Amino acid sequence: MKFQKNIYKRRGSSVSKIVITGATGELGQLVVQNLLTKVSASEIAVSVRNVEKASAFAEQGIEVRYGDYEDPASLEKSFSGASKLLLISTPENEPVARIRMHVNAIEAAKKAGVKHIAYTGFAFVDKGAFPSLGNVHLATEYTIRVSGIPFTILRNAFYQEVFVNPALQSFIDSGSIVTSAGEGRINTVTRNDLALAAATVLAEDGHENRVYELASAVAWNYDDLAEILSDVSGKTVTHQYVTDSEAFNGMVIAGLPEGLARFQIALYQSIASGNEGNTSGDLEKLIGRKPTSIRESITQFFNK
Ligand SMILES: NC(=O)c1ccc[n+]([C@@H]2O[C@H](COP(=O)([O-])OP(=O)(O)OC[C@H]3O[C@@H](n4cnc5c(N)ncnc54)[C@H](OP(=O)(O)O)[C@@H]3O)[C@@H](O)[C@H]2O)c1
Repeated sequence: MKFQKNIYKRRGSSVSKIVITGATGELGQLVVQNLLTKVSASEIAVSVRNVEKASAFAEQGIEVRYGDYEDPASLEKSFSGASKLLLISTPENEPVARIRMHVNAIEAAKKAGVKHIAYTGFAFVDKGAFPSLGNVHLATEYTIRVSGIPFTILRNAFYQEVFVNPALQSFIDSGSIVTSAGEGRINTVTRNDLALAAATVLAEDGHENRVYELASAVAWNYDDLAEILSDVSGKTVTHQYVTDSEAFNGMVIAGLPEGLARFQIALYQSIASGNEGNTSGDLEKLIGRKPTSIRESITQFFNK
C-alpha cells in the first residue's frame, strides 16, 4: 500500500467538508479527536441524531448537522458538500432494520453527491467471521459498491475494550476463566487504533476502492488471556475448557441474562471453529505502528 501523507486536497468549495456520522458514539468521538490532529475543525462536520449531545464539537468549531439514519431527508441534507463521508454502522440490533438504516445513508450520500464514502464494517466478513453480524456488513458493503460512490471499507475487528472489563478481576479472584472456546483465537484491537486508521483514510488521498482488514497481526486465545492475567496479578489463573452447555449454565448461574449468554456461546463456537483467528497487517500499515496488544490494554486497565 502506498499512501500520500497529509495532502488531502480541499475540493475548491469553502463548504466542502469531511462528514462523520455516529460522532457522538465511542468510536466516532475518537475519530474526530484523531482527525483534528490532521485537518482543521472548519473542515469537519458531524451528522448526528442528537444535536445537543454534540455541543462539545460545535464549541471546537466543528459544524454540527442533524442526521438520523431513520430519516433519509435529514441524512441527504447533513451530507451535502461532503468530500468524504464516514458512515459508522448503527448499533441497531435487528439485522434487517440495521441494513435499512445503512441503505438510507448510502442513498442519501448518492443524492447529496458525496465524493467518497468510508464505512466501518466488520473484519474478515468474507472468511466466515461471526455471520450474524458479518452478513449485515456484507450487505452494506455490496450496497456501497453498487451505488457507484468511490469507497473505502474499514473492516473493524472486535473491540478490545469489550474483553478488557471488570470481569477480568473476577477471573483473577476465582483463578479460572471458564469457556467453550477451546484453543481457538480471536482478533481484537482498540477503538482508538481503529479511529486513527479511519482518520488517516479521511485525511489522505489514495484509499479509493480499497478494503482494509483493520485487525492485529496477532490473534489471542483464552490460554493467552489466563497467562496475561497471571502475570499482571501475580496469582495463577488457568483456562478451563468446558462444553457449550456447561459454559452457558455457568454464565446464567453467575447472573448473565440468557440472551447475552447465548451471544457469548455463539462467539465461543465461532472462536473454536477458527473463524475469528484471522490476522492482517493493514491496520499497522495505516497507523504506522503496531496496534495496541491485548497485553498492553490489560496492563493499562489494571494500572489505572
Ligand atoms: N467491532 C466491534 O467489536 C463492535 C462492537 C460494538 C459495536 N460495533 C459497531 O460499531 C459502531 C460504533 O461503535 P461505538 O462503540 O461507537 O458505538 P456507540 O457508542 O453505541 O455509538 C453509536 C453511534 O450511532 C449513533 N446512532 C444510533 N442510532 C442512530 C440513528 N438512528 N441515526 C443516527 N445516528 C445513530 C449513536 O447516536 P447517539 O449518541 O445519539 O445514541 C452513536 O453516535 C456501533 O454502532 C456498531 O455498529 C462494533
